[in-house]
Amino acid sequence: MYKTHQYQEENKQRFLDELFELLRIPSVSADSAYAKDVKTCAESVAENLKKSGLENVEICPTQGNPIVFGEKIIDKNLPTILVYGHYDVQPADPLELWETEPFEPVIKKTELHPDGAIFARGSADDKGQFFMHVKALESMINTQSLPCNVKVVIEGEEEVGSIHLGGFLEENKEKLACDVVVISDTHIFSNSVPTVTTGLRGLCYVEVEVTGANRDLHSGLYGGGVPNPINILSKMIASLIDDDGKITIKGFYDKVEELSANDRKELNKLPFDEETYKKSIGLREIQGEKGYNTLERTSIRPTLDVNGIWGGYTGEGAKTVIPSKAHAKISMRLVPDQDTEEIKRLFTEHFTSIAPKSVTVKVTPHHGGNAYVLPSSDSGYIAAKKAMDKTFGKETLPYRTGGSIPIVSLFEKTLGAKSVLMGFGLDTDAIHSPNEHYGLFNFYKGIETIPYFFQYYVDGK
Ligand code: BES
Ligand code: MN
Ligand code: MN
Repeated sequence: MYKTHQYQEENKQRFLDELFELLRIPSVSADSAYAKDVKTCAESVAENLKKSGLENVEICPTQGNPIVFGEKIIDKNLPTILVYGHYDVQPADPLELWETEPFEPVIKKTELHPDGAIFARGSADDKGQFFMHVKALESMINTQSLPCNVKVVIEGEEEVGSIHLGGFLEENKEKLACDVVVISDTHIFSNSVPTVTTGLRGLCYVEVEVTGANRDLHSGLYGGGVPNPINILSKMIASLIDDDGKITIKGFYDKVEELSANDRKELNKLPFDEETYKKSIGLREIQGEKGYNTLERTSIRPTLDVNGIWGGYTGEGAKTVIPSKAHAKISMRLVPDQDTEEIKRLFTEHFTSIAPKSVTVKVTPHHGGNAYVLPSSDSGYIAAKKAMDKTFGKETLPYRTGGSIPIVSLFEKTLGAKSVLMGFGLDTDAIHSPNEHYGLFNFYKGIETIPYFFQYYVDGK
């Protein structure tokens, strides 16, 4: 391992320069205006894989954005680790809130990153993180210390629901066969409290439309005598969560896994500080489901949130109108063992049933996926924990996070492989927000830790 680390030290600056090149490509998957950049980014990822010593590198076309594949098979009898990541990023807007250009990476120091952090869209989610694997692989390959086979899958549609990856897995079961998947697309608790993510929440995302009259109406001539879809939608939405913070959809909690007393204790070992949390997001007071603390509410409990709501007149000045339609986008974060399809059905039934007869309700589902847990007895978890213990010089704790990576449950279903979520970001890195950044400490710590993970995983087999 000494040689591998020495190689990393000697090539530190180059690793960063190469990441910067990747960050300059605006590979926004949600906006078709960037389709060309997405393609360019896939090509750049493929070039990077080749340069790092991976073989059979391919840009696999899909109905959507291409998937980049590469591998290094050293001995069929050795275990195979599959690295997954995504090269697509979230849109950068609102642009005016960025202090520097989103696609021109710069290094700036922050309170939590005194050694500096890379500011750019995708720096933490997920280019900076999957690139750690590429560079860790390069350092293992070039120092003859890769201990097993490796396959790499970097997709370009994670931020829009991994629409075509499921099919790709189905069609390439043989090619992607592996013992374990490792993903760096989550965060650690803090730079002084290393964690391995042992759970992700699932997601059920719907769009609702409430329609009243067949056209917008004058709010003086008709007001008082007709249903107002925005008033009605607001009331319907408000009724979805009660005063105890419980979701009122019938059957919503039926399958929710209650954590064992021990797992709950384990989760609460994390030194969570409510005051720091509130301060970091500018809140005076927090709220949530009764009977659970913030750490639990944001990881092991399901949620329902309106992500966007619109309708009627929102332009300058006042227009007196009763709109014909009102809309909202609603996300539900799910926990084991809630099923995204079932929750979709329960939501639709409930939402339709609470609508007054005067309006029509339409529910359109978007992408989703189920929650995921990695038991701390899993050999992948054990290897990741040992690796982080080693490089952080501290005891690594299990951490369940509230975000979702829907494809993780499909890796298990299709390839029969567990995913180890060994991310190195911080929850304050502003992913999906203006001024996204990724700590240099985190970037290099990841590159240093990954080879240990590989070694300990093989040792444990
Ligand atoms: N990397 C994130 C998910 C994440 C971040 C999980 C931090 C845990 C900790 C991923 O790119 C993401 O943004 N996922 C989406 C879901 C997807 C279907 C758009 C999410 O969680 O909203
Ligand atoms: Mn991500
Ligand atoms: Mn993301």
